[in-house]
Amino acid sequence: MKFFIDTANIDEIKKGIDMGLVDGVTTNPTLLSKEKKDPNQVIKEIMSIVSGPVSLEVISKDREGMCKEARQLAGLGENAVIKIPMTEEGIKAVRILSQEGIKTNVTLVFQPIQALIAAKAGATYVSPFIGRLDDISSRGMGIIEDITIIFNNYGFETEIIVASIRNPIHVLDAALLGADIATIPFNVLKQLISHPLTDIGLERFLKDWGSIQR
Ligand code: E4P
Repeated sequence: MKFFIDTANIDEIKKGIDMGLVDGVTTNPTLLSKEKKDPNQVIKEIMSIVSGPVSLEVISKDREGMCKEARQLAGLGENAVIKIPMTEEGIKAVRILSQEGIKTNVTLVFQPIQALIAAKAGATYVSPFIGRLDDISSRGMGIIEDITIIFNNYGFETEIIVASIRNPIHVLDAALLGADIATIPFNVLKQLISHPLTDIGLERFLKDWGSIQR
């Protein structure tokens, strides 16, 4: 299972790489806006420090605009993956880009058939947003189960990125389902490593060790 970090923050990406937990990065316009810097500069910096796939999202709504942006972004590096929204125009763009050999990540997927359509269009990745489904009292992880079955049924090579992750249980459930990738915010990435009983246990070991030192 690969872990991507879901952020456009350079410091978080560097820390995640240092933890050995960054196989790739996903960004989106909201994450880039939080950085309050020139987004093109931020994107270039991310590309310069990450060797794995980096998802960069287009903002055009029409197929021609999406393809034009995608070709420019793809020129930033071989690891650039173009994030395309799950819309009719988006799927048309995915089909064209896939024929050109440009990697795509179909984003804002909220139901399994959308993922099937993206895979049929040749998407490299699909990103179902589980947290946002949980937020509206729909079982987000349910669509990961369904997409996994559908992709296995037909042998699609499109990889599933479990997105909109809010907590470590989302990562656990994704792993139990055998999801290819989880894209994880930095705060959750840190939570994955720690457990209060680990801290208490370590403290006790060190205290007991100290008591027998002369
Ligand atoms: C995925 O690629 C998105 O960037 C992200 O996971 C969206 O998560 P959110 O629902 O926390 O905004």
